[in-house]
Amino acid sequence: MVKSHFPIDLGVLAAVNQLIPPKSTILELGSGEGTNLLAQQYSVYSVEDDIDWVGYCAESTYIHCPLVEIDYKGSTTSWYDADILAKSLPEDYQLILVDGPSGKSGRSGLLANISLFRYDVPIILDDTIRSDEANIARELAFLLNRPLYTFWNFSIISPVILTNLQISKIQHAALDVLSKEEDKYLLSYFSRCDRTTDFGLSYYHNVIAEEQRLQTELISLKLSKNRLDAIEKSYSLMVGKFLTAPFRLFSLLFKGRG
Ligand SMILES: C[S@@+](CC[C@H](N)C(=O)[O-])C[C@H]1O[C@@H](n2cnc3c(N)ncnc32)[C@H](O)[C@@H]1O
Repeated sequence: MVKSHFPIDLGVLAAVNQLIPPKSTILELGSGEGTNLLAQQYSVYSVEDDIDWVGYCAESTYIHCPLVEIDYKGSTTSWYDADILAKSLPEDYQLILVDGPSGKSGRSGLLANISLFRYDVPIILDDTIRSDEANIARELAFLLNRPLYTFWNFSIISPVILTNLQISKIQHAALDVLSKEEDKYLLSYFSRCDRTTDFGLSYYHNVIAEEQRLQTELISLKLSKNRLDAIEKSYSLMVGKFLTAPFRLFSLLFKGRG
């Protein structure tokens, strides 16, 4: 059976998991089977143009938004009706997932309408394996003055610098998906698919283990410091210092004479 590339894959899901905590709210452009995956862990709003896909995921809140023709850079393209979005988008969400409209309609309308969305949340752009989507991601990162993290088939624009641990976990999941893709599919996007280096999954696995060890160490150091601070401020230490002050003074005087 041929694998469908319409729904988000486990690489994109790993990115979501690394960028926001469970139960956060996601604003998704373009819904499908992947919406069910997201809705298991998050609260989801789905902007969907195709009435046949509106309501596909019972747990998501749908915003039905048909496509309209718009002018972008002197040519006509189609994108979600911005008037409907302006009235219907939720105010509060912690991540934007751009996976619609379908590749056939094009997604460049996002660049013309970015002011409709929050800028202070991470944006995941799926399908940046395609040149059009990759160019949109590049330009959006430029417009927002934000770093662009590109994995083999999706990209992230983040308002903050991602940590080694986050990047390693996302790359590990993305490579895991890539290692199972068929050459025929990859060759429709890349000029060759014989690899220059291996997948390096064990490398990322080691980075993840080391980062987690460092984080545990840091937490235990912080706990020890908190304990020391508490002792430093404790009433019994103050009383002890007060009671032993004359002895400490004498010992200082004797040291001075010696
Ligand atoms: C790339 S899909 C969005 C997929 C969605 N984010 C997911 O993870 O399942 C873009 C658009 O194609 C349509 N669509 C969704 N799933 C589809 C499928 N399995 N086959 C054909 N069209 C689909 C919907 O109209 C959707 O807005």
